[in-house]
Amino acid sequence: MARKNKNINPMLADKIKEATLQYHQQTEKVLVGKLKSMRSKRDYIDLLTLFYGYFGGLEKHIERYINASNLADYENRRKTSAIADDILTLGGAIPALTAEDQLPEIDNYLKAFGALYVIEGSTLGGQIISKMVQQHLHIADGKGLSFFNSYGGQTEQMWSSFKETLNGIAMTPQDEEMIIEAANQTFINFKGWLDK
Ligand code: HEM
Repeated sequence: MARKNKNINPMLADKIKEATLQYHQQTEKVLVGKLKSMRSKRDYIDLLTLFYGYFGGLEKHIERYINASNLADYENRRKTSAIADDILTLGGAIPALTAEDQLPEIDNYLKAFGALYVIEGSTLGGQIISKMVQQHLHIADGKGLSFFNSYGGQTEQMWSSFKETLNGIAMTPQDEEMIIEAANQTFINFKGWLDK
């Protein structure tokens, strides 16, 4: 449960963006490489499988600490079940989740918010990914694209409201540090997972 918001630092969203920038760039580079070499629906299912394993594993941990009590619209936010639906729609099978030792440590709500920052932020890149997949595979009707379509026309708005909540979560500089460190670790482990 989040403690009461004294709003000691409304700029956490800016700090976390700056701190994670290099890891975002590295992750983006790996993904753009994968997207450009995508030739078949099977390749796309493989990409969804990677996201499902890692984001699905993270989601289980995050849900121990984040719910409607500390993020009002958590239930309406994108879930990894959307990836499972996309894989099934495309004729694939539901994959296994990442092994625990490949995930960042999430043992309190601060770290959970750091990890969720990465997942929610990926809705922004998701829209670009969705366009790239459509171009490469000529997928019609958005079939199998529900996860990367993110919140559609609501994506920017959902991102702004997430950042607003995030800005009220940290009560001390140590809290902020913990959130930022968890976000960095979430990116680093994801890149490790993609590189495997
Ligand atoms: C092809 C892959 C990707 C591209 C092209 C991409 C691109 C982008 C773009 C254009 C933004 C918005 C930047 C802004 O408005 O300032 C963004 C933000 C973000 N992306 Fe990605 N992204 C990709 C993949 C990912 C993935 C896989 C993750 C997570 C694992 C991720 C996490 C984030 C986060 C956390 C932000 C928010 C940064 C902030 O605090 O404003 N991105 N991305």
